[in-house]
Amino acid sequence: MEDQIDLIYQGKSYKFPLVKGAEDEAAIDIKTLRAQTGLITLDPGFKNTGSCESEITFLDGEEGVLRYRGYSIEDLANNSSFIEVAYLLIFGELPSADQLDKFEDEIRDYALVDEDFKIILKSFPKSAHPMGILSSLTSALIAFNPSSVDINSEKDFHEAIVMLLAKFPVLASWTHRKMKGLPLNYPNYDLSYTENLAHMMFKMPNKDFKPSPTLVSALNKLLILHADHEQNCSTSTVRMVGSSHAGLFPSIASGISALWGPLHGGANQAVIEMLEDIRKDGGDTKKFMAKAKDKNDPFRLMGFGHRVYKNFDPRAKIIKTAADEVLAELGIDDPILDIAKKLEQEALDDPYFVDRKLYPNVDFYSGIIYRALGIPTEMFTVMFAIGRLPGWIAQWKEMRFNKEPIGRPRQIYTGYTHRSI
Ligand code: SDX
Repeated sequence: MEDQIDLIYQGKSYKFPLVKGAEDEAAIDIKTLRAQTGLITLDPGFKNTGSCESEITFLDGEEGVLRYRGYSIEDLANNSSFIEVAYLLIFGELPSADQLDKFEDEIRDYALVDEDFKIILKSFPKSAHPMGILSSLTSALIAFNPSSVDINSEKDFHEAIVMLLAKFPVLASWTHRKMKGLPLNYPNYDLSYTENLAHMMFKMPNKDFKPSPTLVSALNKLLILHADHEQNCSTSTVRMVGSSHAGLFPSIASGISALWGPLHGGANQAVIEMLEDIRKDGGDTKKFMAKAKDKNDPFRLMGFGHRVYKNFDPRAKIIKTAADEVLAELGIDDPILDIAKKLEQEALDDPYFVDRKLYPNVDFYSGIIYRALGIPTEMFTVMFAIGRLPGWIAQWKEMRFNKEPIGRPRQIYTGYTHRSI
């Protein structure tokens, strides 16, 4: 591959270096474009624009490949714990047994949140969307832990990472309990990270609760599958906010808000609502497929399509298999799973979807498992956020440690030229 590219503009030739990635992706380094030519690039949605170089996650959208630090998502989902994957994403290597034990103990030690968080939680109406509550509570963490922004001190930064991983599932489960009008559960130090999440979400005060292996295994797999996904909308938001040297906690709070959107992480909730609408409408999937293809109809087939994957989302394949396994183990026959499979098959045979390379993405089947596990629809995107937290942390850490400049895109102005009052 050449190491530079020529640009001819107004009769002059300009040279720009080519940057080559570990998997042979190539980019034009345009850091000097405006200085040399006076030109900028324009790319709404950044469909063709790389924002950074990163060592964390690799996606091949054409081949449907996803790897965290070189390990395939299939291997990690089937062989690792969520906390092992979190460690891998954040620190770059899978932990040894001792490193994992220490990391899990550190997380246990930070798992209690200030009791005053209950006052903040109490101020929200039960009808509040849990993503709004979670974003607010995460921002509030900075008020109760002011020391957690100094990344120059390895110790302080490590403490901020562990604190966030420890407290986030507590805040998320308390958000769920608040919505349901249920008493709040504290973390149980004898349980694993994922067992604790289940415990805090589902333990009722009037009876014993032991998280079932099916529940824990499904949650563990779903959290791993959502853990990172290179420069998606919410991760780019976390990097952008962090680039102004805002702290880790407010940067993550911004990522939660970006993830909330139905075109992004909010799609898992929108998929179930869509499948329920189809079921209530009599299950006529062809009618909804026609709506999805009608340019005059704002309806989209939620859980379908992806900015990067122009092949199957590898996570969707794993989740689809897990959905069958979990529902079978729980003895649940959920009609909306059949509707989902029917929609998928029809889309795979439909030129509109085939021509646009629209396949099921991570959100298409995940809600069916969450629903089978007894998690309410409004909480689905919170579950996505719990999974994505280590990826957000890892990406924020990389951006800050690489001393990347503050993010500040240019624009092409198309408004009025100067005019007098
Ligand atoms: C996530 O980026 C990530 O990595 C995100 C994520 C992660 O892990 O972080 O993977 C998580 O956000 C998954 C995506 C969840 N969103 C949805 O399921 C919402 C439904 N999907 C879409 O709205 C859409 O596919 C996006 C937002 C996911 C991607 O949009 P793009 O890349 O901007 O593509 P586009 O909107 O330009 O669509 C290209 C064409 C258009 O038709 P034409 O104008 O060419 O005729 O495909 C059509 C679109 O109308 N299209 C759809 C469609 N998705 C795209 N038509 C019907 N139903 C859909 N779902």
